[in-house]
Amino acid sequence: MTDIHVVILAAGKGTRMKSDLPKVLHRAAELPLIEHVCRAAAALRPASITVVVGHDAEKVQRAIRERVGLGFAVQQPQLGTGHALLQTESRLLGATGTLVLLSGDVPLLRPATLRALVATHTGQGAAATVLTAVVDNPLGYGRIVRDEGRITAIVEHKDAGAAQKAIREINSGIYAFDIAPLFGALKQIGAANAQGEYYLPDLVTIYRARGLGVETVVAGDAREILGVNSRLELAEVGRILKMTKNEQLMESGVTVIDPPSVFVGPDVTIGADTILHPGVYLEGRTVVGSQCVIHSGVRIVDSRIDDGVVINNFCVITESHVASGARVGPFAHIRPHSAVGEHAHVGNFVELKKTTLGAGSKASHLSYLGDATIGAKVNVGAGTITCNYDGTTKHPTVIEDGAFIGSDTQLIAPVRVGRGAYVAAGSSITDDVPADALAIARGKQVNKVGWVSRNKKPRG
Ligand code: UD1
Ligand code: CA
Repeated sequence: MTDIHVVILAAGKGTRMKSDLPKVLHRAAELPLIEHVCRAAAALRPASITVVVGHDAEKVQRAIRERVGLGFAVQQPQLGTGHALLQTESRLLGATGTLVLLSGDVPLLRPATLRALVATHTGQGAAATVLTAVVDNPLGYGRIVRDEGRITAIVEHKDAGAAQKAIREINSGIYAFDIAPLFGALKQIGAANAQGEYYLPDLVTIYRARGLGVETVVAGDAREILGVNSRLELAEVGRILKMTKNEQLMESGVTVIDPPSVFVGPDVTIGADTILHPGVYLEGRTVVGSQCVIHSGVRIVDSRIDDGVVINNFCVITESHVASGARVGPFAHIRPHSAVGEHAHVGNFVELKKTTLGAGSKASHLSYLGDATIGAKVNVGAGTITCNYDGTTKHPTVIEDGAFIGSDTQLIAPVRVGRGAYVAAGSSITDDVPADALAIARGKQVNKVGWVSRNKKPRG
């Protein structure tokens, strides 16, 4: 096996995006475009990956520098794709084998397609191999010009005449190159074209004139090489990524009731026989078990949902854990670092923040539970509020196993309710409640018999 070195071009501004953000940092299916490309590159297990940065170089570097084994080359100013690749010469000095060139704005490429490109390239002993595709609408792409079947040139859209514009086979901007002749040849590229840029595709003509082998691989699925140049194309790429993920999920046994309306991020996993209703968003590193039902309008981010959980409509769950058999919602908000125990129930208009609700416990209606540790089999009555904030600091509330908190209770933290204790409805609890006790902390009721007829005129 020959060495593979990957270069990713990401120095351009992306003028057509009309954005302050560099194009390759725009996101599709949660991830920046360049991250999708880095993932495809990493799947080749290359000896090196070099990203060519230029426009807003620091921002792009910051976004991906944590990837291991990744290096950068700077292109300043940006004089075209041929000029961009030339900037990697010193980093690849002495390297041999195959250079795979990727574009930071072509994010749908599958590793299998890249492997096929490399296989043809090395199999044919070519100097360059171009990944092409046949598309319905070739607008904006470089066209593949062939003579008796063999590629002779790539003509950019802006330089193409009417006959060439009719060609529907396009350049994907993805290539494999033999490193040995590459950098010498790149220096021969000129800029006499419509854009006054050093076009990398001109290498095809240069190689052909020198009698070096140039091959092509036609991508089986043209959608894979879709480049993002505008917001419209960004949306299209996002749509394809979403549908591909949904198809994988369905193949693995997940029911997705209305796939176009369901978004599942690339790093999310879901167990078999889970049902996703329309309008569900599962994001980040979320893991959902099997046999769950997630109803419409639910958004779950970076959370773990165990088997057999039901999440009713319109809940938001972030960085939290919901254990098996629990029921959540409708209209619940589970904020970071919360945990809902096995078979526990979080009902409507209940907010949890940094709160653990133990196994079998219930907070069924209209509550705010923050910085609270709640044991097993606790009943939290409607309207219970943990007053966890004194204006300066947050304080904890502890409710031990089996306690019963009556409705409309305020638990003024720091405070502890002992095992099995009862708190009467409407209490403002400022002091710890011992285990097994009943705490009543509210004004005593006084009935003044006959007061109304003595004091009030009859109401009309
Ligand atoms: C390029 C190809 C075109 C192909 C298309 C596929 C050229 C001249 N044209 O056109 O044949 O059909 O991709 O998507 O190569 N970049 C730099 N430095 C530069 C210019 C560009 O790093 O000086 C980077 C960009 O950031 C981008 C990539 O190269 O990631 C492609 O550049 P772009 O301007 O989008 O080229 P296209 O016009 O799409
Ligand atoms: Ca492009």
